[in-house]
Amino acid sequence: MALPPPRSILITGASSGIGEALARRYAAPGVALALTGRDAARLAAVADAARSRGATVLAETVDAADRDAVAAFVARADAAAPLDLVIANAGIGLGRPEPAGLDAHVRATFAVNVDGVFNTIHPAIALMAGRRHGQIGIVASIAGYRGLATAPAYAASKAAVKAYGEGLRPWLSGHGIAVSVINPGFVVTRMTARNAFPMPFLMPVDKAAGIIARGLAGNKGRIAFPWPMAVVGWLLAAAPQGLMDFVAARLPAKR
Ligand SMILES: NC(=O)c1ccc[n+]([C@@H]2O[C@H](COP(=O)([O-])OP(=O)(O)OC[C@H]3O[C@@H](n4cnc5c(N)ncnc54)[C@H](OP(=O)(O)O)[C@@H]3O)[C@@H](O)[C@H]2O)c1
Repeated sequence: MALPPPRSILITGASSGIGEALARRYAAPGVALALTGRDAARLAAVADAARSRGATVLAETVDAADRDAVAAFVARADAAAPLDLVIANAGIGLGRPEPAGLDAHVRATFAVNVDGVFNTIHPAIALMAGRRHGQIGIVASIAGYRGLATAPAYAASKAAVKAYGEGLRPWLSGHGIAVSVINPGFVVTRMTARNAFPMPFLMPVDKAAGIIARGLAGNKGRIAFPWPMAVVGWLLAAAPQGLMDFVAARLPAKR
């Protein structure tokens, strides 16, 4: 069932890429935006652009991995304008380290991509449950459909939040909260600019933001795109491990 247009929206990782494109897309008169990122100058530029489109903007550099700081930001945003929609988008894709660096690498990845999602959505869910109204968008990835040798920590972090969101959705709908899991394929952003390998069905970021915004408006449980990449993800999920081992041994590593 379609949801009314959100008037108060929080987006993490809005200083770049998909989060920035979503912020620009949602910016309009009567809309309150709460935006975070790490790069203060880029975040300020996005905030200014959103204000010039008539939105009210609260923008702060908040580390998604800092539980208390994110909780405080969610509370401030909700106090300013009760949140209709929270998009946990901030994420990092670090590729693959040398084996000796695995522990630091996987923990750094999960601190942002998994804990960062928890840090963002849990305080929001508590507030939304109290008024039985709200929507959560979790940005996972088609990379989370299968363990990937090219980026094992990244794929695992996205699998975690994808499964978590899928589990939350039917349960939280009983509390008046809609949950959508967003699974992009390759999108043109700073994250993919570092990829030195061919990226099938690479999509412009504004097109991706449009698909996400329409999917959220339609309260779709899974927003996966582009569709041929989603089919590839499905096939990867079903492929036998022996085939994956064969293919993985021939893939270039993500830098
Ligand atoms: N691009 C793709 O092909 C693709 C595909 C599937 C899923 N995704 C997911 O989409 C999301 C957005 O990525 P993107 O492609 O738009 O990449 P991006 O352009 O690099 O943007 C990532 C955003 O996350 C922010 N961020 C990273 N670490 C953070 C932290 N610790 N605290 C707060 N903010 C942090 C960045 O802030 P700063 O820029 O200020 O550092 C930036 O705003 C990520 O979750 C990513 O995994 C992307």
